[in-house]
Amino acid sequence: MRIVITCYCLVVFILPSANVNAFHDDIYQPRVPLELLEELQDMDNPYPASPERIELGKEIFFGKGLCVTCHGKGVKLPGHSPRDFTDKKWQEIRTDGEMMWVLRNGSPGTGMPVRVGKGINEEEGWSVIHYIRTFVNAE
Ligand code: HEC
Repeated sequence: MRIVITCYCLVVFILPSANVNAFHDDIYQPRVPLELLEELQDMDNPYPASPERIELGKEIFFGKGLCVTCHGKGVKLPGHSPRDFTDKKWQEIRTDGEMMWVLRNGSPGTGMPVRVGKGINEEEGWSVIHYIRTFVNAE
């Protein structure tokens, strides 16, 4: 009887959740359509990371970008955790171009909303990406 119950649990609870969440469980996996990955990885931030640019990014992050409401310390959302920008490994893997795709399109299937075009413009988007890059150094 115990074996039957164990098998039942495995099939009903563990296997389906493993399949459905396989992509989203691994925060290091690309969040962009795979056919665009190479192109986005080659895309450079068009603005130099000057102190003024980073300061503008910071204002967006804490202001009209609303980023801090989800990406602030200790914020938990049901389903997909907002990305922790102090994660060094994530910072190394993810390129600016991929982040810009997420800002323009959101991260489909998660709580990450479209931001560029809705609330902030392209230039502000690139600026906030420069600010996000300072999170690893600030640790
Ligand atoms: C309503 C909550 C919410 C707001 C507001 C929000 N985010 Fe997110 N963000 C998320 C969640 C949830 C994820 C995780 C998505 C995933 O797992 O793919 C995420 C992921 C990301 C990622 C990482 C995607 C990747 O490639 O791994 C970036 C970059 C990002 N957000 C930037 C921002 C910026 C910049 C702002 C403000 C302009 C912002 N977010 C506002 C919830 C939010």
